[in-house]
Amino acid sequence: MNVAIIGTGYVGLVTGVCLAERGNDVHCVDNNPKVVERLTAGEVTIYEPGLEEIYHRNLKKGRIKFSGNLDAAVLRSQVVFLCLPTPPGEDGSADLKYVLQVADDVGKILARNPGAGYKVIVDKSTVPVGTSGKVDAAIRRHADAKIEYDVVSNPEFLREGYAVEDFLRPERVVIGSRSEQAISILQDLYEPFIPAGNPVIVMDEKSSEVTKYAANAFLAMKISYMNDLANFCEAVGADIDKVRQGIGSDSRIGSKFLFPGLGYGGSCLPKDVKALLRSAQDAGSPLAILQTVEEINQEQRKRFFRKLENHFKGKLEGLRVAVWGIAFKPNTDDTREAPVFYILDELLKAKASVIVFDPEAMQGARQRYGDRLEYAESSYGALQGADALIIVTEWNEFRKPDFGLMKNLMRQPVIFDGRNVYDAKKMKERGFLYHSIGRKAVESHVTNV
Ligand SMILES: NC(=O)c1ccc[n+]([C@@H]2O[C@H](COP(=O)([O-])OP(=O)(O)OC[C@H]3O[C@@H](n4cnc5c(N)ncnc54)[C@H](O)[C@@H]3O)[C@@H](O)[C@H]2O)c1
Repeated sequence: MNVAIIGTGYVGLVTGVCLAERGNDVHCVDNNPKVVERLTAGEVTIYEPGLEEIYHRNLKKGRIKFSGNLDAAVLRSQVVFLCLPTPPGEDGSADLKYVLQVADDVGKILARNPGAGYKVIVDKSTVPVGTSGKVDAAIRRHADAKIEYDVVSNPEFLREGYAVEDFLRPERVVIGSRSEQAISILQDLYEPFIPAGNPVIVMDEKSSEVTKYAANAFLAMKISYMNDLANFCEAVGADIDKVRQGIGSDSRIGSKFLFPGLGYGGSCLPKDVKALLRSAQDAGSPLAILQTVEEINQEQRKRFFRKLENHFKGKLEGLRVAVWGIAFKPNTDDTREAPVFYILDELLKAKASVIVFDPEAMQGARQRYGDRLEYAESSYGALQGADALIIVTEWNEFRKPDFGLMKNLMRQPVIFDGRNVYDAKKMKERGFLYHSIGRKAVESHVTNV
């Protein structure tokens, strides 16, 4: 099938490459000429495990191409995916300007080309309830009743870090449409991706739009609940990791997404919680629970930082602090709304000297802080002479380090672990002073100073 992808970022590029991998002919459009230039030249613009290999394979076979030519992409394609940004506006609502601008452009293209044939315009961006109707109106304004197209809501559920795997073998596909023709075309397109038994769920457009926000808000709620509970565990001397195992083995609760930490970040959960809150308020049916979810999330990183301040009795000036992890989660270079930024801002405000390391996301810190930070070449490189290490992102390479080497490199063997990566008891035996989340801090008798 001929497919157009409009917006070639994390969602668009993965969608385009995976559709090409299943034999479709894909034309990706982006209005950022640098993105188009790099992707055309064979350079993957984002870090996503497994993406590079299938991108190169399909580029070589000529099944995927990149340009800034919206007209050409729309006219040759039966299905047009809108994978455009929907950042938060000032009042928290999703800003639809990119989506509606492209819808307007598509309307003009269809109006200029009345013989273009039937198109399915698919909204893959995360958008508030009612957006399908707005996209339809933006197109219809230009194209008269004779132009054949349908607008469909088809939210994307891929997880950064597992995006290729999630797209190639989705747990479910949601199609929001009341057009038999559009539903049938999308079912055909997705058929090769659906592992036996996984559902394609067809519903109306509004329910589909709500489903995406409801899923992300639910995940955010799980995280905030566990973080709130972790703080309670600290107050009463319980261990959140044991509690997590205890509740996660109940199939009604499930074991995933129960990990306490520094709170959620990234390009989706923070903005989607805000947008759903806004939509619910606008509809006169506020989702009170989400207000609390968001407050807990903001408080969590502050509370963590206070542990560091308390440990050093409020005197961070002149200390050398190493930070492992910039990305908002492992296996991605995405730093949008990453919790680390709060911590780095506070460290710099307190006049600490800060050295950071991340396996893939250093660029995100460089862009924001320039020479106000030091950038290490390796995780151990960050530790030389450090008075403390803060672990922000649980990359696999941080999970089993050489603790002896770490201790030798650091000036003070003090770790603040924002992701509960290590066994607290063992850290005491290894000679560290170790703070984590929802567990008692442990202090060894062995120190370097
Ligand atoms: N990133 C995720 O994990 C994820 C998962 C599910 C859903 N989503 C949703 O998908 C949407 C896209 O997210 P993303 O992370 O891929 O965004 P992104 O910022 O990585 O990519 C968007 C791309 O669109 C391009 N663009 C902007 N305006 C354009 C225009 N007028 N014409 C052509 N291209 C244009 C940008 O240059 C950019 O390359 C958002 O609504 C997001 O909430 C994201």
